[in-house]
Amino acid sequence: MKKNIAIITGASSGMGMEFAFQIDCLFTKLDEIWLIARREERLIELSKLLETKTKIIPMDVSNKEQVEDFYTLLNKEQPKLRMLINCAGYGLMGKVEDIPIEEQLGMVDVNVRALTNITYACLPYLTKNARIIQLASAAAFLPQKNFAVYAAGKSYVLSFSRALEEELKPKHIYVTAVCPGPVDTAFFDKADTYGHSLLLKEKTMVSADRVVKKALHDSYKKKQVSVCSPLMQAFMLVTKILPHRFIFFVMRFLK
Ligand SMILES: NC(=O)c1ccc[n+]([C@@H]2O[C@H](COP(=O)([O-])OP(=O)(O)OC[C@H]3O[C@@H](n4cnc5c(N)ncnc54)[C@H](OP(=O)(O)O)[C@@H]3O)[C@@H](O)[C@H]2O)c1
Repeated sequence: MKKNIAIITGASSGMGMEFAFQIDCLFTKLDEIWLIARREERLIELSKLLETKTKIIPMDVSNKEQVEDFYTLLNKEQPKLRMLINCAGYGLMGKVEDIPIEEQLGMVDVNVRALTNITYACLPYLTKNARIIQLASAAAFLPQKNFAVYAAGKSYVLSFSRALEEELKPKHIYVTAVCPGPVDTAFFDKADTYGHSLLLKEKTMVSADRVVKKALHDSYKKKQVSVCSPLMQAFMLVTKILPHRFIFFVMRFLK
């Protein structure tokens, strides 16, 4: 019999791991949660903490051969996919001229190309009323100096997710783009390799638990965009109504 499953990429850490915990508690009718990331040992540790059966898929989502194997696995298993959550991603702060080009293209490969590829691979298996949750970012709302490639990639994720939802709505499949500001995860260990985040980050940071709870609630409500904190909701509004050149000017004074 076909299994009811959820798939989570980036499940070895941060928000992906938190989604696994919350889905495990909320969706008791799932047969399996498929956990994807490169660090297999962390996925194994996570799976021991979950009630739901898991399938551990150690995979680099930007590796062509490994993603082809993922297509093959889906084709073999023919699952009933209830939920796809794309969390795999990373960001690097710093000026475009200061970050090695391979690193910047790596961000595009994981945050943009791989997310598109994994989503495409999963489309045939999504059931009626299935949900897709895509981790974008509040960085998607506005071009950001010293975070240029990351912000541009997240704008893609937001735009892609909203368009995809319009395409999938007739099939009763709903897509939510999650756009948090800074979240307390391992993200910044890597992000600060070539530059530094704004000090403001510390004051605006929220927990992964809170972002995920809101994302699952908004996904249930069929919302296209999930923004966790009132501050980031205000930021989204400001980027919609004020000229971006004016916001850039104000942001020059933020530390
Ligand atoms: N933290 C924030 O402030 C923040 C804010 C807005 C949006 N986001 C977005 O939220 C998502 C989750 O980030 P997080 O904060 O939870 O960071 P995190 O704790 O660093 O988790 C990132 C996850 O992505 C996985 N990953 C990275 N590259 C991968 C690859 N090539 N193949 C497979 N998996 C890969 C990592 O697993 P492995 O290393 O084991 O592969 C890890 O599980 C990202 O898309 C990030 O851009 C984060």
